[in-house]
Amino acid sequence: MRVLVSGGLGYLGAHVARRFEERGDAVRVFDRSAHEDQAGWVADHDVIFGDLTAPAWLAGICEGVDLVVHAAALNQQACAADPQLAVRVNALGTRNLIAKAAEAGVRRFVYLSTIHVYGRLAGATVDETYPPRPATDYGVTKLAGEGYCQVFAAASALQAVCLRPANGFGPPVFASADCWMLAVNDFCRTAYRTGEIVLNSPGNQRRDFLALADTVRAIETVADAPELGAVGVAAVFNAGAGLSLTIREVARMAAEVCGEVYGRPVRVVAPPGSENVPDDPAVDYRFDRLAALGYEPATDLRAGIRSVAEYVASLGG
Ligand SMILES: NC(=O)c1ccc[n+]([C@@H]2O[C@H](COP(=O)([O-])OP(=O)(O)OC[C@H]3O[C@@H](n4cnc5c(N)ncnc54)[C@H](O)[C@@H]3O)[C@@H](O)[C@H]2O)c1
Repeated sequence: MRVLVSGGLGYLGAHVARRFEERGDAVRVFDRSAHEDQAGWVADHDVIFGDLTAPAWLAGICEGVDLVVHAAALNQQACAADPQLAVRVNALGTRNLIAKAAEAGVRRFVYLSTIHVYGRLAGATVDETYPPRPATDYGVTKLAGEGYCQVFAAASALQAVCLRPANGFGPPVFASADCWMLAVNDFCRTAYRTGEIVLNSPGNQRRDFLALADTVRAIETVADAPELGAVGVAAVFNAGAGLSLTIREVARMAAEVCGEVYGRPVRVVAPPGSENVPDDPAVDYRFDRLAALGYEPATDLRAGIRSVAEYVASLGG
């Protein structure tokens, strides 16, 4: 299969590109730019540089491609810093790419959406019918991208898939990856650098933590599924690990694991009075639709934290 990975030099995209290459698929990567530590990989691979926001850059990139995995986007922090650009990249950029994919006769378009399209979740059972109420520019613009997937699924032969992964963590392929705002990754790096994990809130919020390897597995599942549901409708899938842990529980686990890996104690520091703030009710992030296609998460949170802690140590922080 010929696969185009947009954002294939990013944190998740690089794992996706590597995985499809390992499977024996022909991989092309589209991204805005490369970091210094990616130069060797870029030289050996089919990498096209360009900007999603300008359709002219996308000319020809989908020709002969069977599958697009669309991972190029601005993350939560970048969207908050520049909401206008967030709309241009996450919403219109998705439109630009899926339009080219439909025109070129691409069979399937896997759009990496996010759990953040749902907004704040506490005490909810969240399957794909749960109403999206995004609470951030990131969530709004990622949901707009899903809207364009629906438009092109209805108007062309393209099979569009919107995948909504939960909160990711794990070591990156390239050290330059922008992945240190993710809670688990940040906890491990801060623990290495300071011997502390500092929470800026009581940490009572619940998250489903999904190892990057499982997100990649979810992507493979929707890429390989023979059928995806109704023709002319973009299929929507949650992807989670089935965990519902509070930030402070995960911080405590990270402190323990980092203490073992770094050979010195790590303490968790939370704002005064945090111990009196009750945990949010559990969130049940359901992924039955994806499980019906054979997806099974293998996330072992403790082992996953250890892999990040070891990676941080290997970088020297
Ligand atoms: N990382 C996670 O845990 C996670 C969880 C859920 C969903 N997602 C989704 O997966 C996707 C990838 O996330 P990530 O963590 O790899 O992000 P990332 O920021 O590491 O990678 C995004 C890539 O997109 C590229 N890009 C940005 N703007 C571009 C533009 N205008 N033109 C071309 N390329 C552009 C960047 O150069 C970068 O390489 C995103 O769509 C995100 O919403 C990620």
